[in-house]
Amino acid sequence: MSTDPMTAGDLRAALERVRGEVRDRVAGADAGALEALRVEVLGRSGHLTRLLRQLSSVAASERPAIGALANEVRGEVEAAIAERLEALRSDVLDARLASERMDLTGPGLPVRVGHLHPTLTVERELREILHAFGFEVFEGPEIEDDWWNFEALNIPPDHPARDLWDTLYVAEPGSWEEGAPRPARDGSILRTHTSPVQIRAMRSLTPPIRVIMPGRCFRYENVAADRNFEFFQVEGLVVDRDTSLADLKGMLEEFARALYGDETKTRFRPGYYPFTEPSVAFDIGCLVCGGSGCAACKRSGWMTILGAGMVHPAVLRNGGLDPDEYQGYAWGMGLDRITLLRYGIADLRMLMGADLRFLSQFDEGR
Ligand code: PHE
Repeated sequence: MSTDPMTAGDLRAALERVRGEVRDRVAGADAGALEALRVEVLGRSGHLTRLLRQLSSVAASERPAIGALANEVRGEVEAAIAERLEALRSDVLDARLASERMDLTGPGLPVRVGHLHPTLTVERELREILHAFGFEVFEGPEIEDDWWNFEALNIPPDHPARDLWDTLYVAEPGSWEEGAPRPARDGSILRTHTSPVQIRAMRSLTPPIRVIMPGRCFRYENVAADRNFEFFQVEGLVVDRDTSLADLKGMLEEFARALYGDETKTRFRPGYYPFTEPSVAFDIGCLVCGGSGCAACKRSGWMTILGAGMVHPAVLRNGGLDPDEYQGYAWGMGLDRITLLRYGIADLRMLMGADLRFLSQFDEGR
């Protein structure tokens, strides 16, 4: 650009050129080009700034009009650049929105969740059935001592019935560090059945009592396909003023039908437990062969699912109840066995293994 003094006409023409040029270059410019343009036109030594310096060389009468035009052009240039920048910004935003777009109406990605263990599924079903019969759940500890697990249940120390419950003893703290673990001094053992919870329920509830007591039990077992050292029982207890063996039979027959279907055959056989008198074993018609005899029922056509009986007077007394005032019935069943029958599982040990290939077969969507 010439540095010679300019006439008013030259200046006006130059301002119009700047205006036209800026208009052309703004269209399609990116942010970098806009900044370059701003410096080139409006900067300290930009076109417009330099043209304004020429203002002093035009006739005084022309100055106000030219000055106004120069301000107008400056305003236009600033506005044009700002407008284009704004447009670019929203283009960038649009592009980002477009690239990050999600189809919220599409089907969701499947989330893998776990499911209940088959034993737990069956336990919940038992709870549901027995809930309908008016039973509440009452739970007791897995570590008991000799008194709760045996003596309170009318099984004195030398009673031969103890042989039925090969016991796991809890070791004296620290004794395993010196060598052979010693049984805990306080007689702590892992409970061999859920029956001690009967005593706890009688002591903390007021009759009429109607409770089920599900839980884990432990025995020193020779582990095989049909027995494990760790298993589950569901104990039942009813205590009231007029409970009879007939109530027990009616209740268990209905229970078996609710669990295995209306056609289920049932029978009671005499049994023996120190804590019930009389005691019974409760059988259902074999679920595998329907009663004709097979390997699963050892050719008898029957399967024993639980032991039961009228609560022994000594047990009622240990529960803090007067046997002349109250009677009751109780039963205990093996949950693992019921689970095996339900799903046709051949080996009880599978239930306690952590093999997902086995366990994932029992996903019932719960
Ligand atoms: N506790 C017994 C067992 O473990 C089962 C049982 C419970 C029997 C209640 C009678 C009454 O084998």
